[in-house]
Amino acid sequence: MPGIVVVGTQWGDEGKGKVIDLLSDEMQMVVRFQGGNNAGHTIVCDGDTLKLHLIPSGILYSHIVPVIGNGVVINPAVLIEEMDNLAAMDVDAERLRISHNAHVILPFHENLDGLQDDGRGAASIGTTRRGIGPTYADKAARCGIRMQDMLDPAAFRARVREAVEDKNRFFRCFYDAPSLDAEEVSAAYGAYAERLRPCLTDTSILIKRALRDGQHVLFEGAQGLMLDLDHGTYPFVTSSNTVAGAACTGAGVGPRDIDEIIGVTKAYVTRVGAGPFPTEQDNETGNAMQEVGREFGTTTGRRRRCGWFDLVVLRYAVRMNTLTGLAITKLDVLSQFDTLRVCVAYRLGDEVIEEFPQIGRDFAACEPVYEELPGWKRDISEARKLDDLPVEARDYLDFISGRAGVPVNLVSVGPERHQTILLDGYQEPLRQGRLLFQDDFPL
Ligand code: GDP
Ligand code: IMO
Ligand code: MG
Repeated sequence: MPGIVVVGTQWGDEGKGKVIDLLSDEMQMVVRFQGGNNAGHTIVCDGDTLKLHLIPSGILYSHIVPVIGNGVVINPAVLIEEMDNLAAMDVDAERLRISHNAHVILPFHENLDGLQDDGRGAASIGTTRRGIGPTYADKAARCGIRMQDMLDPAAFRARVREAVEDKNRFFRCFYDAPSLDAEEVSAAYGAYAERLRPCLTDTSILIKRALRDGQHVLFEGAQGLMLDLDHGTYPFVTSSNTVAGAACTGAGVGPRDIDEIIGVTKAYVTRVGAGPFPTEQDNETGNAMQEVGREFGTTTGRRRRCGWFDLVVLRYAVRMNTLTGLAITKLDVLSQFDTLRVCVAYRLGDEVIEEFPQIGRDFAACEPVYEELPGWKRDISEARKLDDLPVEARDYLDFISGRAGVPVNLVSVGPERHQTILLDGYQEPLRQGRLLFQDDFPL
């Protein structure tokens, strides 16, 4: 032990990449457990920016064993490109370990993703069009292709060819869409298999042995709670479970293998794609957050919608993930505002509610109830300890932590590794945070 899960608590892009890279210093293994290359995790190190879509964010540390678990869907072309990019930076990505049971994204999954989302018209989800939904759909329908199928080259190429031919018939009938060249796809995937085969292994056993030997294993979440297939704002969600519990199914470990669960939460909220977003500021305030926070999607480059911090969402994330600690990111982006608003409840008709409503129609009708806090209007990007922060910034953190009932382990005040306030030693991420904030807990 210990197993530490890091998840997003909002609609993704909370800064998980930065936090995971930072924590990896004290880990031995980092495991992605769900999603695919819809994710975009950014690491900024000495001015260089690295965007990762599939490879775990601990890769920059040579001592880390990076693992892609069974719950991930893999586009082999994207993965190989990412490995090559890392090699060009002198980072060995061949040490990557990939689960036999992860499913493979094929070109028709990407095409179908686009056709289906276009077909939704005004109700479009605004997916990343990376084929994520259709690949998970095939997995659930038990007709997917898995990484382990690559072990037998001839059989794998034949399976890919048959799958493309099969989907071609479907595309012709239902979408009048052009066919893919089955031979071409099969040959390309045959080459991907040659490259990736040495990385395939039983990752569940690999992780279990690491935990047994007392190593620190970090389970890296993608997306965030509100994009969870079951618990998010369905249908405006992704096609996997993004909650901490998915680390077990997506990595092949049990609930008792998890010791700590850190929720990454941006000091305000962003969302890419369609769907309800109660605290959205489609105005000057949102534009200012977008601009200063450079809120453009890491995967698709789309402008992210921005809004005030939502405590109803965070409390929901605390409950759904049993969070043990928070990593609050992008606090520096709020330095520009005179006054900050935090949504503490929703008004739904005549009622004020403090819990995320399960009925989608209700959530879409919720109006935020705000409390106002004073801003600090001072550059905080050089702060390295709590005492460096203006009292208003500390009060803002206390307010969030206290109302959520969870200690803060880490505060991020800029994209670089060193632009971080650690409230602990990494070895015991929670103990000191708990002591620090315990007076604020309502629990
Ligand atoms: P992820 O998907 O959760 O890993 O987040 P992304 O990498 O998609 O988006 C977060 C963005 O914010 C990236 O561009 C990061 O470099 C940047 N970032 C992370 N933490 C901070 C911070 O504390 N301040 C600022 N200004 N930027 C940050
Ligand atoms: P990271 O890991 C933000 C959003 C898409 C769309 C919805 C469904 O970087 O936080 P999909 O392609 O998954 O079927 O799209 O989910 N989405 C993300 N938004 N960050 C992400 O990942 C996302 N991955 C998917 O924009 O609204
Ligand atoms: Mg992202």
